[in-house]
Amino acid sequence: MNSVGFRLSGVGSALPEKVLTNHDLESWMDTTDEWIRERTGISQRHIGSSTTELATLASQRAMDAAGVGPSDIDLLLLATTSPEHICPGTAPGVASQLGLDCGAIDVQAACSGWVYGLTMANGYLLQGMDRILVVGAEALDKITDYHDRGTGILFGNGGGAAVIQPDPSGVGELLSWDLGADGRYVKILYAEHGGVLKMDGKEVFRQAVTAIQRTVTNSLGRAGLTIDEIDLIVPHQANIRIVESAWKKLGLSMDKTAMVLENTGNTSGATIPLALDDALSNDRVKNGDVVLFVGFGAGMTWGSALVRWNGS
Ligand code: COA
Repeated sequence: MNSVGFRLSGVGSALPEKVLTNHDLESWMDTTDEWIRERTGISQRHIGSSTTELATLASQRAMDAAGVGPSDIDLLLLATTSPEHICPGTAPGVASQLGLDCGAIDVQAACSGWVYGLTMANGYLLQGMDRILVVGAEALDKITDYHDRGTGILFGNGGGAAVIQPDPSGVGELLSWDLGADGRYVKILYAEHGGVLKMDGKEVFRQAVTAIQRTVTNSLGRAGLTIDEIDLIVPHQANIRIVESAWKKLGLSMDKTAMVLENTGNTSGATIPLALDDALSNDRVKNGDVVLFVGFGAGMTWGSALVRWNGS
């Protein structure tokens, strides 16, 4: 599919220092640490900082890991569902904090945003760009009601980023991808201007499991690969039970899955690069591995991508 190759040459992430634990929530919400852990797999989430700060820090770390400076970046794509303003986008401010002199645009596809960004980056590489920053960053505490036990238990802040560039070596490659959206489900997870997230948790759960199955099957089919050929899965993580249910249906293994949910909660567009950075820090990826990225979220939107890894 890709004649220029594709590699994530540097990955970085950032979390605010302030932590909101299940026990903190217990003190003002009719819930328990045990219920939240059992029903979601989450023990704590991070709050504070801002989308711009988290995007900037994660991006700087990704650029340092790739060994590149501001003048090397040709484009910034920022996946966020918690932008600083309705207008303008958040990406230009992040680009200016980083000292970039290039295009910068927000990608609003909720929790699937970073996977959308990854596939968009591939298009720009094919058009001749050399290095693209694909960032996911969220300050979801700005749109979360931490007194609502349906949503307040789930969401937290964070940032993650990757520098993406061509790979002439022939190792690194975007093997296949799949994107989807179904606007009939707008109202199962949404926030009005100036409002907080509203959610029909059960319906989101159902739709998410279906979307994951469909998109992973499509990406595998397009790459001509089987489930067993995947070495690492980096999923969006909103609730451990969504991942477990979808994996059971697909025959995927939790042992091959990069999870950070317990300590971060659902960080929407930031989740996948955060989990990838964690997997890299724990030496879970080696060159030549097949890595599956899969996201789903409000919209509904969903997306997946299979990458043959070349990080070096
Ligand atoms: N603490 C304690 N009890 C709670 C609770 C909480 N935070 N939230 C709900 N309950 C209670 C309900 O009142 C209900 O009690 P009842 O049986 O006496 O009526 C019971 O627990 C079950 O509630 P329900 O709403 O059916 O829970 P659930 O199993 O659907 O779990 C979510 C709720 C939100 C955790 C779950 O639906 C979910 O995670 N959905 C997906 C959300 C998501 O992924 N969003 C982001 C997508 S990117």
